[in-house]
Amino acid sequence: MSPALPEGEPVPPDGSLPSWVASGAGGTVPATRGFGVYLHVPFCSVRCGYCDFNTYTASELGGGASQASYASTALREIDLAARVLHDAGLPERPVSTVFVGGGTPTLLPAGDLVRLLGGVRDAWGLAPDAEVTTEANPDSVTPESLAELAAAGFTRVSFGMQSAVPHVLATLERTHDPRRIPDVVRWARDAGLQVSLDLIYGTPGESLDDWRASLEAALATGVDHVSAYALVVEAGTKMAAQVRRGEVALPSEDDQATKYELADELLTAAGLTWYEVSNWARTDADRCRHNLAYWRGDDWWGIGPGAHSYVAATGAAPAGASPEDARVGVRWWNVKHPRRYAALLEAGTSPAAGRELLTRTEGRLERAMLGVRLREGLDLAVLSPAGRHAVAGLVANGLLDGRAAVAGRAVLTLRGRLLADTVVRTITDE
Ligand SMILES: C[S@@+](CC[C@H](N)C(=O)[O-])C[C@H]1O[C@@H](n2cnc3c(N)ncnc32)[C@H](O)[C@@H]1O
Ligand code: SF4
Repeated sequence: MSPALPEGEPVPPDGSLPSWVASGAGGTVPATRGFGVYLHVPFCSVRCGYCDFNTYTASELGGGASQASYASTALREIDLAARVLHDAGLPERPVSTVFVGGGTPTLLPAGDLVRLLGGVRDAWGLAPDAEVTTEANPDSVTPESLAELAAAGFTRVSFGMQSAVPHVLATLERTHDPRRIPDVVRWARDAGLQVSLDLIYGTPGESLDDWRASLEAALATGVDHVSAYALVVEAGTKMAAQVRRGEVALPSEDDQATKYELADELLTAAGLTWYEVSNWARTDADRCRHNLAYWRGDDWWGIGPGAHSYVAATGAAPAGASPEDARVGVRWWNVKHPRRYAALLEAGTSPAAGRELLTRTEGRLERAMLGVRLREGLDLAVLSPAGRHAVAGLVANGLLDGRAAVAGRAVLTLRGRLLADTVVRTITDE
């Protein structure tokens, strides 16, 4: 169902990192580089027709893996991760951000999420100001479960609201009652949690007024963070088949652009400012630090089936590597199915399915792709000469901010945000 994993080279059975990742003798991690942990919870009560995330309903899961045993299995990977990072000789750092995503993390009892956070704390320690987020479906929380999470150290919850309009939610096959949104936001805030709402625009049949109603309903809750994503109809999903059969019609690019502009207008008017193409926050403190760290190229370990991880090199390049071939970091990804994931960990083996050793050029491209989507923009020095050369044309076309470019940064204009993929392609065209 969900997309195939990338090809890559094999990972040693013990999960060990290449020796050049850390010099082992005085390699230092820049003080600004954080260390995040992503915990994937691959379960949902029903699969929404548009979703191709690595998640399983009870009937899709089959034997050999269960929701009930999942926390214990994932804790094994946390132990393995602590051992691998320690053995690599990387400087020990407390975790700056934790993000529990899914799937539907809150399908697990709150006690399981608390155990997982406890595992992270035991393995590395949590920074005193650590951000700890869980995603949640609005129909899978109670005031009690949210209070239990907050008491255990969770600081933030991100609810999948998607829309306030019943026919849109029905097309998306969402199960929650939109009237519940103000309640869950209030419960979370009463528990002391920061709250974010996820919205989707461009669902087949959604009018501009429907989208306005969803934005207004989200803002009426007083939230300090909103993510608004254009619906992507991924190949292989039920919705892709409905589109192919002509049962539902996708919106035009103009419709999507108008909806993005409306989102930016209403969210900005309510005091939420964009800080990434699809994310708006009231203050800097309301931004999702976990995602920012990912977009800025920090280190993170992804726990769970299909989760990806990245660790940047602090040590010397492998002997004989040319400057451009020198490896700047390693990215790996876990096997996708929860059954295989559990079996590998039970056998004491790394659940990693493959890895990529990033060259300097690949690392630069990745930094450019992620960094340019941020309001703070991208240091033009990250770009190749061809990429820097393309900046003037993008400024002339109104996609990049001229003043920022003169100051050495690539910052998207509103038009540029609408065409962010085009900008990325242009500045990374080697
Ligand atoms: C994978 S979900 C996990 C959280 C939770 N299960 C939920 O659905 O609310 C995270 C977010 O990704 C977004 N998302 C998932 N599939 C998407 C798609 N095909 N197009 C746009 N956004 C999508 C939704 O807004 C969702 O809230
Ligand atoms: S609830 Fe979230 S993760 Fe689960 S199928 Fe729906 S969108 Fe995907």
